[in-house]
Amino acid sequence: MTTRELFPPSGDFAATVSLPGDKSLSHRSLMFSAMAQGTSKISGLGTGHDIKTTAAALSQLGVEYSASDRSVAVTSSGVTGLTAPSDALDCGNSGTTMRLLTGMLSSQQFATTLTGDRSLSKRPMDRLIEPLGLLGASLSTSADGTPPVTILPVDGLRGGEVVIKTPSAQLRTAFELAAIQAEGDSVVSSPPGYRDHSERWLETVGLGERKDDTFVVHPGSIPTTDYDLPGDASSAAFLWAAAAIREGSEITTPNITLNAGRIGFLEALERMGAEVDASVDRAILGDPVGSVRVRGAGLRGVHIEGALTIASLDELPLLAIVACFAEGITTVGDATELRVKESDRIKSTCEMVRALGGGAEAKEDGFEVVGLGWLDGGEVSSYGDHRVAMAAAVAATGARGPVRIIGADAASVSWPDFYETLESVWSSR
Ligand code: S3P
Repeated sequence: MTTRELFPPSGDFAATVSLPGDKSLSHRSLMFSAMAQGTSKISGLGTGHDIKTTAAALSQLGVEYSASDRSVAVTSSGVTGLTAPSDALDCGNSGTTMRLLTGMLSSQQFATTLTGDRSLSKRPMDRLIEPLGLLGASLSTSADGTPPVTILPVDGLRGGEVVIKTPSAQLRTAFELAAIQAEGDSVVSSPPGYRDHSERWLETVGLGERKDDTFVVHPGSIPTTDYDLPGDASSAAFLWAAAAIREGSEITTPNITLNAGRIGFLEALERMGAEVDASVDRAILGDPVGSVRVRGAGLRGVHIEGALTIASLDELPLLAIVACFAEGITTVGDATELRVKESDRIKSTCEMVRALGGGAEAKEDGFEVVGLGWLDGGEVSSYGDHRVAMAAAVAATGARGPVRIIGADAASVSWPDFYETLESVWSSR
């Protein structure tokens, strides 16, 4: 565990930053490539530890990689040619790895056990049992619904229809990865606001279509594909927030995923008074990609709920920090899912804000932050949670004194070079 102290130089900054590959899309491109028979290519793969975790788990199933300067070639015998792992698959800190792998492996004729680190071992996995069970999969978890997850061998899956009440893109994707291996179509629906990367990709390759509020999955094989992944909107958000906090500063991030389920935070920033420009310039398998510019201006409090909460879920600890520098109260509701992220993010976010001299109160399904217009700085724990560690670092942008982060290395789960990038942004003119 490492400690870092951050105290930026004063003055406006202006920078253009290229972000490492998107985490959600990196997991998906690795899994889709592992399910396709032949060689797929991924350029712009994410650099975080979670992505290495997914790649390592897939290699235990027989998937092979060959890396060049610009891309990684992923060779697989296809989902029906995967081999039984000799050991449990270690999903580390990554909920996406565990949930997506469970869907992908639920029609295998061999058993697989998935384990995780201390944080992941506390997260709910029993939510996979009903949707995947409907397709005929056989799963078990520990008695309290947490990892390890064991996927038992089955003799094929059947199509099914499920309404997922938890607003979780991981659950939807797990269901869809199983459903493309089933006999017959399947139908899934869930509350709005979710990142629909998987649905867009499946639609593009003819394995699914939208019907009203549902998504219909058609069984079939995922083709080998060349994935040219954009930068990560959830990582870029930390730099957008830094610019928003320091009035007159500006950040431009080209080549970012602009899926509506990923950029709720931009809408929140705009509602708070930051100047935001986003423009789409290409698509990857039907998923929009483009450039974002954020310029800091006077901020006011905002109320976030419903689909906007879902579309900004990973950025809510960061929103709490931005809210400290706004005038007025910011409230976040419909965010119960924050309780079961890498930390209990309602608790860790409020404690982070208070440790830095701000005012925050936890609610059952969210939190309230009193915008004072400043933070003092101080010492915070990352709670072993990458997004809490990085949000605390961004707080230093506007704090009156230094911010010390205990467990700062948690950031490497999604963005190993985060602190160096933030420091170079602070020094840019
Ligand atoms: C993810 C979905 C979100 C998000 C996570 C990545 C994904 O989780 O919090 O960081 O790639 O599907 P849920 O949709 O399960 O809330």
